Amino acid sequence: MHKYERANQAEVPLDRARRYLEPGPVVLVSSEHEGERNLMTMGWHMILSFTPSLFGCLISAGNHSFELVRKSRECVINVPTTALTDEVVGIGNSSGREIDKFTHFNLTPEPSDKITTPGVRECYANFECRLLDDSMIERHNFFLFEIVAGRAATTPEYPETLHYTGDGVFMVAGEIIDRHQQFLPQML
Ligand SMILES: Cc1cc2nc3c(=O)[nH]c(=O)nc-3n(C[C@H](O)[C@H](O)[C@H](O)COP(=O)(O)O)c2cc1C
Repeated sequence: MHKYERANQAEVPLDRARRYLEPGPVVLVSSEHEGERNLMTMGWHMILSFTPSLFGCLISAGNHSFELVRKSRECVINVPTTALTDEVVGIGNSSGREIDKFTHFNLTPEPSDKITTPGVRECYANFECRLLDDSMIERHNFFLFEIVAGRAATTPEYPETLHYTGDGVFMVAGEIIDRHQQFLPQML
């Protein structure tokens, strides 16, 4: 279970965070505020820019994570693989108001480099985020972050990530189609 711990990870250049997040994997958002920590499952997110490396996402105001992230102005975006499917489902169907999800789901808080909030050691990749723009939180529950540090496991090159279709059903990342040769250099 601990195969993605830091020893097996390499730093991800910030402008390469898209490599892991643009395919839209389900992620686990870790948060911490004044000593209280939490985890939530997230499918609604997007990369918005390479440099600076911007990440936007939707955290519903009803979620316990909403206030923790809004107040601390930071979070870690953790990318799980299918090895954590039960945890992804459990974390997305329970509230941090009632349980400590790190303890309950037997996940390890991994200290971050640039922010206070810990990541999840058992995840394939971890991206440390600082809130850049809070102007759409009130109206749309939309958080715009700058990714300030990132690391990812070096193998496998393309992990089996989960992609949510709604209704309790996930797709799994699979076949790779490489069309690098057909791309304009500025489009790579
Ligand atoms: C696959 C999946 C994807 C989800 N995506 C989101 C999302 O993008 N935004 C959101 O606010 N909640 C999303 N949720 C719901 C939260 O994970 C869920 O409400 C969770 O219980 C919140 O935990 P918290 O109250 O401890 O913060 C998702 C749940 C699942 C299972």
